[in-house]
Amino acid sequence: MLSRREMRLVPRGDGAGVMFLWKGRFKADTDQRVRDFTQSLDLDWCLAEDDIRGSLAHAKMLCEVGIITREDLVLIERGLNEILEEVRSGQFVPDPGLEDVHMNVEARLTAKVGPSGAKLHSGRSRNDQVATAVRLYLRRRLKDLKLSLGGLLKNLLELSRRHEDVIVPGYTHLQQAQPISLGHYWMSHFWAFLRDGERLDFALRSLRLCPLGAGALAGSTLPLDRFMTARELGFEGPTENSLDTVAQRDVLLDVHYFCLSCALHWSRLCEDLIIYASREFGWMDLPDQFCTGSSMMPQKKNPDVLELSRGKASGVLGRFVDLACMVKGLPLTYNRDLQEDKRGLFENLNVTQSVLSVLSALLEGVQVDPDRGVKAFEDGLALATDVAEYLVMRGVPFREAHEKVGKLVRWCVDNQRSLRTLGIEEISRFIPEAAEDLLPLLDVKASVDRRTTYGGTSREQVRRQREEGERRLSAWLSDSEVPLD
Ligand code: ARG
Repeated sequence: MLSRREMRLVPRGDGAGVMFLWKGRFKADTDQRVRDFTQSLDLDWCLAEDDIRGSLAHAKMLCEVGIITREDLVLIERGLNEILEEVRSGQFVPDPGLEDVHMNVEARLTAKVGPSGAKLHSGRSRNDQVATAVRLYLRRRLKDLKLSLGGLLKNLLELSRRHEDVIVPGYTHLQQAQPISLGHYWMSHFWAFLRDGERLDFALRSLRLCPLGAGALAGSTLPLDRFMTARELGFEGPTENSLDTVAQRDVLLDVHYFCLSCALHWSRLCEDLIIYASREFGWMDLPDQFCTGSSMMPQKKNPDVLELSRGKASGVLGRFVDLACMVKGLPLTYNRDLQEDKRGLFENLNVTQSVLSVLSALLEGVQVDPDRGVKAFEDGLALATDVAEYLVMRGVPFREAHEKVGKLVRWCVDNQRSLRTLGIEEISRFIPEAAEDLLPLLDVKASVDRRTTYGGTSREQVRRQREEGERRLSAWLSDSEVPLD
């Protein structure tokens, strides 16, 4: 039971009254509309566990430097651990009248343990407290995202293996350009997403310093040990400048940029698959479980998952821009605008997490029709570069070869002939340098396998790059600088 004096310390956020945190300074009650308008519980309740972790470290340090007693610490630790349980079990129903998760936890602690709880906020401001909790939260989320991205990367490697021998058209300007191995195509997305993995690591590294102890903006007159709290919370050390610590949001923009780059990549992948699975292209088939039907047209099988993923990518960009705009022109140091930083950031993490997992699962079930893939080349025109390069190897200057082959292509188009089925006499009319040894080259398989330049589409090169990809993926997954503890 708390004494009468102690009861006065128990904060109340409900009903009328001045917010307990600053009740000394104010004569008038906070307007209810202002309470509703300024509360951020809908944004920051997910930080509860991280806030408690931060408070446990802060309390331990306060005791170590002699600001609170060992008895205080025992009570605070017991109280905070109970609150942690209440949060996890859903028993803790936060009070929006107490503005945010941080004040709710502190109020609950003081309600539980009295004056010891009221000592917890010594040398701390919500400005450094929020920044710390957000960093802890982001580190957790990014580690989960790393696993999801790792799953997608593994699936892309597997698809590349499965479809190594499948030949499909490669496009520029969405016009057939040259034949490629579908295995090579999947690897192109693999490398893009692996670079996003490096961006994720960069974002994680941006979060390596601990804001706690920066205070409201200028540090504290209390003998806080910032190195100790940083260590306790698994940070590399404390941040260097207290003003910068509470004012900056670029470490959050690094996290945003990881999400954005990922979104731009998944969006292009989705767009491709939507095209390849259309009737007109038709050589890719999406798994039924990941498609939807039409309420009216019985024949429809729609790629809604891919379209939604593409659609959600715009939101990711919008929310990145939102935070960039927010900090541009904001005077140093903390301004309340910054409370809104979490809205877009957390949403981007959620979107990225859900798209990565659903896309990864969809890819596992993608089927291809190799015959339809090759059929797309019936007119053989995608082999035109092969003919030009054949001539280059016989000493014809490339520009001249380009023109000669161009004329041959023109003739094929006008006469509805396929480049693949021409006889050598027909070819020689346009290209006197051509000999019998050109004919075996007018074949899509040969065309793919002859592109043996490093990083090219020959199956030999695709195999080599996949091996390199496997190595790079496991190195990334086990990067000791960014441990997945
Ligand atoms: N809920 C606020 C946030 O998330 C807490 C910070 C308030 N700080 C202040 N100086 N008013 O940013």
